[in-house]
Amino acid sequence: MASFLNTGASRGFGLKLARQLASLPATDVSRVFASARGDCPRLEEPVTESSGRLVVIKLDVTNEVSIKQAAIEVEAKLEGKGLDVLINNAGICQYAPDGVKSIFTVNVMGVHWVTRAFLPLLQKGTLKKMINISGSTSLGSITSARTFQAISAPRYKISKTATSSLTAQYALDYEKEGFTFMALCPGWMKTDLGGGDIADLTLEGAKASLDIIFRPGQELNGQLPKVFVKGWQKSKGKYQYVGGECSMVNGCVSAFLISNLACFCSRSAENVE
Ligand SMILES: NC(=O)c1ccc[n+]([C@@H]2O[C@H](COP(=O)([O-])OP(=O)(O)OC[C@H]3O[C@@H](n4cnc5c(N)ncnc54)[C@H](OP(=O)(O)O)[C@@H]3O)[C@@H](O)[C@H]2O)c1
Repeated sequence: MASFLNTGASRGFGLKLARQLASLPATDVSRVFASARGDCPRLEEPVTESSGRLVVIKLDVTNEVSIKQAAIEVEAKLEGKGLDVLINNAGICQYAPDGVKSIFTVNVMGVHWVTRAFLPLLQKGTLKKMINISGSTSLGSITSARTFQAISAPRYKISKTATSSLTAQYALDYEKEGFTFMALCPGWMKTDLGGGDIADLTLEGAKASLDIIFRPGQELNGQLPKVFVKGWQKSKGKYQYVGGECSMVNGCVSAFLISNLACFCSRSAENVE
């Protein structure tokens, strides 16, 4: 019986994750906190049908007051228990008005602030998992940068590379406490951010991501797992759905990241301002 919190649940992948998690038996999923900065009309029905297992929480990942309030609310609802899994899903792409700053605020700092605020609750939890939804093995990959050159989203790509590095730092800092921090690549999905129908995967593919999230043990700590889609292993497009994972903490994250993010890092990831 595990409790989950995911951000950006108003639409897209986050909405699908919340719905799929809430549809699982109560013996597997005890509570789903679906968080969003605005209203979630598409969650009203599943909330009503969930007998209290699915709860909507207001949370803007760029607003530290909102994050703290959300953590207090979740803690109260857990009634002394810990939170098992945090899914940092909220994200934006290229077209933010002030460019790289707002993309970094949501996709990198938002992940960091939310993680830091919910760490005490995760430390009380049993599974101790933190999943950053990322394009870590595609658009955010340094080694595949040339492959994805034609997709003109440099700010988004840089933000997702940085998220991989942030995840790696948390993974190293907290592995001895039994944590698993991973940057999960869900594939190219037909959402607003993914460009709708031009993308490969329908949101039913969220099941493949949940299979990775539910994998037991700490084997995926510091990893960049990507979804496996049967029959698409040798896709002719740029995206290959081969599953597997790439290690962040054993050398795959390049010197670029280390040099560019070193200035953010103090003794441990949670102290980053
Ligand atoms: N789609 C893909 O192909 C793909 C591939 C790899 C990774 N991803 C990642 O998957 C995640 C979800 O993407 P998606 O495709 O589902 O995108 P989407 O359909 O555009 O949904 C984005 C979600 O993030 C929320 N959000 C944005 N800014 C927020 C903030 N400041 N605070 C709280 N929530 C905020 C949005 O809420 P509002 O409704 O309030 O705007 C929305 O719920 C992102 O991190 C993305 O980078 C997507």
